[in-house]
Amino acid sequence: MATAQLSSRRIAPSILSADFARLGAQVAEVLEAGARVIHVDVMDGHFVPPLTMGPMVVGALRELASAHDALLDVHLMVERPEGHIPDFARAGADIITVHQEATPHVHYALGQVREAGCASGLALCPATPLPDLAELAEVLDLVLCMTVNPGWGGQAFIASSPGRIARIRQAAPDSVVVEVDGGLDEQTAPRCAEAGAGVFVAGSAVFGTDDPVAAYRRIAAAAGAE
Ligand code: DX5
Ligand code: ZN
Repeated sequence: MATAQLSSRRIAPSILSADFARLGAQVAEVLEAGARVIHVDVMDGHFVPPLTMGPMVVGALRELASAHDALLDVHLMVERPEGHIPDFARAGADIITVHQEATPHVHYALGQVREAGCASGLALCPATPLPDLAELAEVLDLVLCMTVNPGWGGQAFIASSPGRIARIRQAAPDSVVVEVDGGLDEQTAPRCAEAGAGVFVAGSAVFGTDDPVAAYRRIAAAAGAE
């Protein structure tokens, strides 16, 4: 499992807010600025209303990410993700995260991700009760705490999130990384860092600005990320 990059805090730019006409160039810019995790938001039009991208986009970014020793972090906002895990793994995903709310078979799906050779993540929507993370320890590498409701970039950070992040950090085994996703910028990322988050997804705060490289660097500095 290629997760050495996650031993320090990382900002994960989300390509959901990138200019898709120049996706490769935009990703190359943040990689050159130091990003080592690129977040890919997959939406199926069922679990969340929008439709976004599939394994082809992961495959298209694989070589570029590898050239910078960076991870492709695939966030599946997809009903019954089990059927899609092999395709994303084959396309070159390093981390595959499934939603607790999207399948009754979370332990199975996380095991499938591991078997496919990827690091496994479990995403939790803001109102989902925390599962018994100890029961998942043998198949779990990462917990993604949604700090907005999933489905769209550019939403406001849910103010109560730092308390929830701290509860997740406390309940999760030490080896499990806590990732936060939604509404993160220079102000909110440090609050999540203090609560115990290690990976900070940022879409509109990076690619929604005129200067994604400068924005990336500011958020990384604020969060104490590399
Ligand atoms: C939302 C996605 C996020 C999104 C975050 O459902 O999971 O990864 O890209 O966008 P911002 O950073 O703009 O809130
Ligand atoms: Zn996401």
